[in-house]
Amino acid sequence: MAWDGSTTGELVTFASKAELLAQAERYWNPDKTRFWSAAGVPLVIGRREGYVIHDVTGKPLIDMHLNGGTYNLGHRNPEIIAAVTEAMDYFDVGNHHFPSIARTALAKALIGTGPEGMAKVMFGSGGGEAIDMALKSARHATKRRKIVSIAKAYHGHTGLAVGTGDERFARLFLADRPDEFTHVPFNDLAAMEKALAAGDAAAVIMETIPATYGFPLPAPGYLKAVKELCEAHGALYIADEVQTGLMRTGELWGITKHGVAPDLLVTGKGLSGGMYPVTAVLATERAAAWLEADGFAHMSTFGGAEVGCIAALRCLEITTRPEVRALSHHIAAFFTAGLDRIRAKYPDWFTGVRQDGLVMGLEFAHPEGAKFVMRRLYQRGVWAIFSTLDPRVLQYKPGLLLDQGTCARILTATEAAICEAREDAVAPGQLPLSRPAETGAAPAFDLPRYPADPGARAVLAQRLATWAAGGEAPYPVASNARET
Ligand SMILES: Cc1ncc(COP(=O)(O)O)c(C=O)c1O
Repeated sequence: MAWDGSTTGELVTFASKAELLAQAERYWNPDKTRFWSAAGVPLVIGRREGYVIHDVTGKPLIDMHLNGGTYNLGHRNPEIIAAVTEAMDYFDVGNHHFPSIARTALAKALIGTGPEGMAKVMFGSGGGEAIDMALKSARHATKRRKIVSIAKAYHGHTGLAVGTGDERFARLFLADRPDEFTHVPFNDLAAMEKALAAGDAAAVIMETIPATYGFPLPAPGYLKAVKELCEAHGALYIADEVQTGLMRTGELWGITKHGVAPDLLVTGKGLSGGMYPVTAVLATERAAAWLEADGFAHMSTFGGAEVGCIAALRCLEITTRPEVRALSHHIAAFFTAGLDRIRAKYPDWFTGVRQDGLVMGLEFAHPEGAKFVMRRLYQRGVWAIFSTLDPRVLQYKPGLLLDQGTCARILTATEAAICEAREDAVAPGQLPLSRPAETGAAPAFDLPRYPADPGARAVLAQRLATWAAGGEAPYPVASNARET
């Protein structure tokens, strides 16, 4: 088994998938390799295109994981490939010590699209690194050390980021620092106030919707109230938009839907279209003060690599097209209708849907319910992952440019997988479940397809605009968050 069609294929040849898995276990990550095989997802990704990935054996899977939004615009999006290919004729990683064309252009573009008050951009190559930069910036600006985050938060595994998250990932490396990192329950304002009351916190860091915790939605007004508490107690507000940014919630930055202007905003994953890693922190002048004091204080050779910046510029341009925003709303509505129909059929098993645009968590009546559904979905050709810190909940993440046929196929597979997983879960006899209810046919829905051709895209834009003007799909800001 080789990497087909490449001039370097001979460097990555394995006799079979079994041999590859054995060598992954031996040379790469034994526990992870074994975990996925045991979980019924023995996936080794081979070819990938749009929203479909193929196992190396050829099995196609529609990608509803997107690696946390990395493939928001699809795998190997042709417009991103074109940008990266062109960039490679001129740029390389660059030299991080100097001002650069690509970095400066991306910084300017990010500030142009960012929430109110953003003034400077710092670049990293991974999300954890960007979170570390945000935390360091907050500490510098406030001259305080303490960081407040929510219990079951996930902000990455680098030096400071890991301290903000679950103990499972910090303790193993003796990286938990309870004296510096305080965790409070999500949606609990009283606990947040208590954590900030001493006036010694540098920052509160919040995912706008905590992904690895299964996307529980912030209660109305919660994030705004947290920001007000930050202001009252002199702490900065860091919005982790690694999974909720880039139009995933139907607006470019999810935090703006909550009326919050953060002091720092972190973006990563899909920022460069999954083709070349780049992450970024947007900051107010106050939060970015260290850039005036000592611009060499944080260094990263690959942070803001120039080829990645060009990919990110194209990615941002695609993502902010009005028709792409409108399309994301249509896809979200399509899934809302489809999931409601399925849920009505299995209400005592499929117990809830958490949704804000294309950010979705499907909740099941078993402590590890999402693992059963994940396995059945995999068998039916859809890849979606359980939530590590709440395995009742399946992370369900449709891409921004999906077409109606694919959405319909995903829903068909989802319905079947949920039905089968229910049987799997009750097999040991834990769940007293009733018979599925009759819910009738799927509702009719006309979901436009996002065309590759620029002329056809202009037609689509017009169609969506007319639609909105007619009052059929106005989708005003923040209207699409719901929990059922
Ligand atoms: C919300 C959030 N923040 C930060 C990170 C860390 O990003 P990375 O894995 O690129 O370090 C992740 C990764 O999954 C994430 O989901």
